[in-house]
Amino acid sequence: MDKKFTIKSFQKAKDEKRPISMLTAYDYSMAKILDGAGADALLVGDSLGMVVQGHDSTISVTIDDMIYHAKAVNRAAKRALVIVDMPFMSYHVSMEEAVRNAGRLMKEGGAHAIKLEGGVEFAETIRQIVRVQIPVMGHIGMTPQSVHMFGGFKVQGKSLVQAQKIIDDAKALEEAGVFAITLECVPEELSKIITETVNVPTIGIGAGKYCDGQVLVSNDMLGMFSDFVPKFVKQYAHISSDIERAVKTYIKEMNESSFPEKKHTFTIDEDVLKNLSK
Ligand code: KIV
Repeated sequence: MDKKFTIKSFQKAKDEKRPISMLTAYDYSMAKILDGAGADALLVGDSLGMVVQGHDSTISVTIDDMIYHAKAVNRAAKRALVIVDMPFMSYHVSMEEAVRNAGRLMKEGGAHAIKLEGGVEFAETIRQIVRVQIPVMGHIGMTPQSVHMFGGFKVQGKSLVQAQKIIDDAKALEEAGVFAITLECVPEELSKIITETVNVPTIGIGAGKYCDGQVLVSNDMLGMFSDFVPKFVKQYAHISSDIERAVKTYIKEMNESSFPEKKHTFTIDEDVLKNLSK
């Protein structure tokens, strides 16, 4: 296992056929657990707009939001590669703004790499960001920032036209210099073709088993986010019921005066106490 997981480790893992594990992280405590448990990469995803901020899409997330969360995750990550999402409209207006914002994620947020959504149409933007030595992960297929163009969070690449476009996107991203590509919500057969076609690793979410690695939103896989559970999510834990049980017990114990106990309590010396004036 590499001591530090880098973009070189991504490529090595693909070459050696070792699956890459990636999970989202938005705060210090969770990032520390995920890093300690051996996740290869932590993604500070703009999904934080939904699972942390409670919006119904990722559209409203700002570059300052991303920097705030990236800083916290970066402090916890000892081994994992920290990848930070470029939010909606942080790389769309001009090349100059895209490079500046990618730079802010690295300089202020401590990102090791950035991720941005889009294919052929963003290849030149990616090229410019890579030119200034910022590693870029691509993201194609169902790109959540385009939810309103797609008419919802819908599987992409089922028709010939869509599937061909996604293959062309993957090739354009590789050619532009990405170190890896996230494939979201595409049919398994398509992600297999792409994984075999491009040399850089593919990381799937709702893209089946043939990708070089997998990514999940931690809140989904831990059973912390119950607004909806996408088909591609496997819940490895049910943390929200654990939290609910703990909170109910806490309230009950307070009502019964069984919490706090002596061991949870601070005291002062008798002589200080008796000299206090009331
Ligand atoms: O923002 C995010 O969490 C993501 C994953 C869904 C890949 O981009």
